[in-house]
Amino acid sequence: MIELTYSGSFETVLTDEKKAALKEIHDNLYNKEGRGSDFLGWLDWPSTVQPEFMERIQKTADVIQEKAEVLVVIGIGGSYLGAKAALTALSPYFSKGGKKTEVLFAGHQVSGEYLKQLLTHLDGKEVMVNVISKSGKTTEPALAFRFLKKYMEDRYGDAAAERIIVTTDAEKGALVNLAIENGYERFVVPEDVGGRYSVFTAVGLLPIAAAGFSVSQLMAGAKDAEEAYQAFDPETNTAIRYAAARHYLYTEGYTTEVMATFEPKLAYVQEWWKQLFGESEGKEGKGIFPASVSFTTDLHSMGQYIQDGIRNLFESFLLIKESNEDLTVFEAENDGDELNYLAGISLQEFNHVAYKGTSSAHLDGGVPQMSLTIEKMDEFHLGHLFYFYMISCAYSAYLLDINPFDQPGVEDYKNNIFKLLEKPGY
Ligand code: PA5
Repeated sequence: MIELTYSGSFETVLTDEKKAALKEIHDNLYNKEGRGSDFLGWLDWPSTVQPEFMERIQKTADVIQEKAEVLVVIGIGGSYLGAKAALTALSPYFSKGGKKTEVLFAGHQVSGEYLKQLLTHLDGKEVMVNVISKSGKTTEPALAFRFLKKYMEDRYGDAAAERIIVTTDAEKGALVNLAIENGYERFVVPEDVGGRYSVFTAVGLLPIAAAGFSVSQLMAGAKDAEEAYQAFDPETNTAIRYAAARHYLYTEGYTTEVMATFEPKLAYVQEWWKQLFGESEGKEGKGIFPASVSFTTDLHSMGQYIQDGIRNLFESFLLIKESNEDLTVFEAENDGDELNYLAGISLQEFNHVAYKGTSSAHLDGGVPQMSLTIEKMDEFHLGHLFYFYMISCAYSAYLLDINPFDQPGVEDYKNNIFKLLEKPGY
């Protein structure tokens, strides 16, 4: 399903010692015995998800599509990036593609300008809100929700409550209390699923379904991946091989991984991936720094650094085999632009050649590489890809002897902000 190539030799990567370490990680994962194992709810979620839950997601999404021209999804980090990645990857570039509801995001930063303009943009449109926060107390989404709650109440009066959906913990946090007090519809974020592993829960599924995409196909892809990567076979298990190769490169001094794509709609898959790996691995003075570039755009900017800068980078290309739409270069009468030599080549083929040329130039420049190729971009393949990265990230973090599922560093800046703003109790 996902084809993986590596510029080095897997024989060097998969030593007996490495295989033994991977086997131990595998067993700990599936026996739920490793560090942070109380956050492994995502591991068999695709194969165990209840049909009633999926029906409820779809039914709620249908209601949103019926009632709302715009759904404002409020969330940050793992409560935002999965849905944003899916919607950006699946949507056409320049239209809603016949979808009824436009999904917009808030609470993923604190720009007063953004929020003010969003509220103005909503005027005259039918609106619903889905506020998402597992902890129910993250400041950025809570602030945005304060404004949007008032906006909805001013516009819809008592009926605002029927237009607000809360996705949060079953019991903990301010948001669950607000939901109960106001009678908002509620979805629960499972206790054993952390933010960046939550795209297949209501956190990701509701906004994706509300935008008109098939969440059953997304989950079918995730289930396909769950089955594909659960056996311990480092010779064939691509998720294990990707984790093992990146760990090998890290130990050789390649401490930054640059994910490179040739399709701009993957920009937020890259952001989601950066959060997943960065927040899972960057701890205890360890971890590969995840960075991203979008080619060929960035060949005219970051390409220079990748080719010639400090040699601590390795590249992982994320490629899509079949494009959904394409154009073929045609013959021009005078060849004034001197491009007739490209006649008959599709832009997808051009990109493939660009990949080959870039890959070999960077390799010559001392940048080791992997490429991951998926068949096409649709809900099924995206579901598979999300799960692939999640399971691979768990292996990767455990190879560094790090708990993949906590984020102690994220708390430090929050506490500082609270102190500076004199929040009671800080
Ligand atoms: O992956 C994580 O756990 C974090 O990135 C969280 O998703 C992020 O901090 C938002 O947290 P919450 O959903 O509690 O508002």
